[in-house]
Amino acid sequence: MPEMIWMEEELRALASEARERTLRDTDAVPGRPGYVRRGGRILLNLSSNDYLGLSQHPAIAEAIREALAAGCGAGSGASRLVTGSRTPYRELEEALAAWQRSGAALVFANGYMANCGVISALVGRGDVVFSDRLNHASIVDGIALSRAEHARYRHNDMAHLRRLLDKHKQARRKLIVTDAVFSMDGDAAPLRELVQLKREYGAMLMVDEAHSGGVFGPRGEGLCHALGVQADVDVHIGTFSKAFGLYGAYVSGSPTLIRWLTNKARPFIYSTALPPALAAGLLRSLMLVQTEGAHMRKRLAESSARFRADLREAGFAVGEGDSPIVPVIVGDNAAALRFSEALEAEGIAAVAIRPPTVPDGTARLRFSLSAAHTGEELADAAARIRDIGRRLGVLTG
Ligand SMILES: Cc1ncc(COP(=O)(O)O)c(C=O)c1O
Repeated sequence: MPEMIWMEEELRALASEARERTLRDTDAVPGRPGYVRRGGRILLNLSSNDYLGLSQHPAIAEAIREALAAGCGAGSGASRLVTGSRTPYRELEEALAAWQRSGAALVFANGYMANCGVISALVGRGDVVFSDRLNHASIVDGIALSRAEHARYRHNDMAHLRRLLDKHKQARRKLIVTDAVFSMDGDAAPLRELVQLKREYGAMLMVDEAHSGGVFGPRGEGLCHALGVQADVDVHIGTFSKAFGLYGAYVSGSPTLIRWLTNKARPFIYSTALPPALAAGLLRSLMLVQTEGAHMRKRLAESSARFRADLREAGFAVGEGDSPIVPVIVGDNAAALRFSEALEAEGIAAVAIRPPTVPDGTARLRFSLSAAHTGEELADAAARIRDIGRRLGVLTG
C-alpha cells in the first residue's frame, strides 16, 4: 500500500548503515545452557544473560510442572487487582522481601514494565529524573511516560550529577535512577556516591539490579547489598530474566512504596499477571540463587576476571568492570557485524551491539558469560576471539 512505502525506504536506509535488526532461529541445547543450536550447528553461547546457567535447572522445571499439576494455572486470567491475587505471587513476594530485607516486594511481568511502571508512578510533571546517560532503554521510556523532566548526567559522572541537582534544587520531587551494572558496558554505578548525593539533595534513589541480581551480594541480593548500601536505596528493581534464568521482574522497598505502586503503577494495574505456575518456578529459582548460587557466583567472578584479562592481553579495547558482561569496542557498525559473523563461523555466538542501543561510533561485541561455561571453554573462546580479531584487524594493541 502506498501509505506504507515510507517503511520500506527507512528499512533500506537502516540496512545500508548495517543497523537493521533481524530475528534468527536459535534453539536451546538440552542439558547444556552454555550452548545454543543455530543452522544445524552447536555454538558456544556468549550472548545470553543466563549468568548462573539456571535456565535449564531441573528443579525449576519441576516446580513449574508441580504447580501446573496442582491446578495452579498456566494463565492468570486478568490483572491481580481484577481476578484476585493467587497464592504463588504472595509466597514469592514474601520470599523476595525477606531476601532483600526490604519490608515488601511486588512482582511485575518483566523488567521493562517494572521500570516504566515505577518511574511513572513516582514522578510526573514538575518533577525531575536524574538518569545516567547509559541507563537501559526501559528507564528512558519510563521517564518519557512519566512526563517529568529528564536530566541526563554523563556516565557515572558524579560532578555532573551534582551540577544538575543544584540546577533543579527547587523541583517538586527528585528521583535519581541508575543501572547497578550497565547492560552494554558491564561496569558498575558508584552507588556509595549516589547515596551521598541523594541524602544531600533530598532525592529518591532507584537502582536497577537487572544484571547484578543473583550475580553479586552474599546471597545474590545484588550490588547494593554487596556494598552495604541497600538501606539507603528507596527503590530496587530486579529482573528474573537474567541470573534467575526465567522471566518476570520485581520491585522491592518499603510497604508504603509497594502500596503506592499497587495503586499507581499502570503496567501492574492494567496488564494480566504472570502465569501463576511461573511464579512457583520463580520461587524455586530464588531459593537456588540463595543456596546453590554462592559457588556459581564464585566461579562466574573468576571466569569473568580471567576472560577480561585474556582479551585485554590480546590487545582488544575491553570495557571496565568485574561483571560477566565483557564488551569489546569495535566502533564501526559493519566491522562489528563482520566480527560477529566470523565468530559464529568459528562456533561462537556473540551478538554485535550497534546504535541506537549504544552511542554512535561505539558498536561492539558484547560477550556475556555464564557459570555454565567452564574455564577451559572460555580460555579456548578467548584464544579464538583473539585470532579472529587479529585477522579482521579489530585489535588495538
Ligand atoms: C538494566 C536493565 N533493566 C531492565 C531490563 C528489562 O528487563 P526484562 O528483560 O525483564 O524486560 C533490562 C534488559 O532486558 C536491562 O538490561
